[in-house]
Amino acid sequence: MSFPTGALALEPTADGSMTLFSEDFGEWFHSRDGAYTEAKTTYVGATDLARLALAPTLSVLDVCYGLGYNTAAALATVAQVNPACQVRLIALELDARVPRQAINAGLIDGWPATVQACLRELATTGRSHRPGIAADLLWGDARQRIQDVEALGFQADVIFFDPFSPPRCPELWTVELIERVAACLHPQGRLVTYSAATAVRVALRLAGLSIGPVNAVGRRWPGTLAQVNPEGLMPLSQQEQEHLLTRAAVPYRDPTLSASAEAIRQSRQQEQAASDLIPTSRWRKRWLPPYEKNHPLDRL
Ligand SMILES: C[S@@+](CC[C@H](N)C(=O)[O-])C[C@H]1O[C@@H](n2cnc3c(N)ncnc32)[C@H](O)[C@@H]1O
Repeated sequence: MSFPTGALALEPTADGSMTLFSEDFGEWFHSRDGAYTEAKTTYVGATDLARLALAPTLSVLDVCYGLGYNTAAALATVAQVNPACQVRLIALELDARVPRQAINAGLIDGWPATVQACLRELATTGRSHRPGIAADLLWGDARQRIQDVEALGFQADVIFFDPFSPPRCPELWTVELIERVAACLHPQGRLVTYSAATAVRVALRLAGLSIGPVNAVGRRWPGTLAQVNPEGLMPLSQQEQEHLLTRAAVPYRDPTLSASAEAIRQSRQQEQAASDLIPTSRWRKRWLPPYEKNHPLDRL
């Protein structure tokens, strides 16, 4: 895969916190409605982490660590609700420039001081082991590093799954990668992502997880909560269920966990063209006004 080298531009968001724009992926790292708010609500709130942190221990897997906001929101929550909780956290990230830029530009200054200290250590050494927390940031392609996490027998109570969108970063939304990530989820654990894409939801199901919609900040569409056990999940709407029957449901695939983004996109397009599933245009006609393009179920 080609390593990102493009500019990372600073962008303010509506809650006053800053995010970055990636020239390589052509996307912002967070919702423009609020980067800190997204970490607190879409990730920490949706997984009910404040309740899970009342236990003596909490294991977190942060896939696509980025600026570290999801990790920061999790650590800040634990510190608030149960400082005695022992946190074990593993994070995966390809581009070391991102967390370092977040620190150098002062973007993490809004988190509590102890959380900032942990983020600083992670960005510089990839490791922050201190009383109450053992955190490791594994650099490299998540498709390889997840295999190391699996080999450790890591079973996360909470997984934050936050890659760039499927069309821009299909390599991180494939059935094969999601299967590896799901293998690191504790049977009672919860995985959350901002994406509602039908291809992603199908991949989560193929990985043996049940799915439900979940409120995602600043997005017109809910995100997705996935668990081994369907108990407690909200049901998908009729509109979402019908979308699962269309060609948008053809998932991304990467059997060797090493294909290029372009190759993954192309093989999905070929599979869609040959598919017996209902054309997605029929679903759009039934559910969407004619001006609605780029629907999140297709896109995100
Ligand atoms: C949407 S951002 C994540 C934002 C992050 N969760 C935060 O709170 O700041 C996506 C991240 O995925 C990383 N990424 C892209 N391709 C990757 C890969 N193959 N393996 C691991 N990380 C990758 C990018 O460098 C970027 O930091």
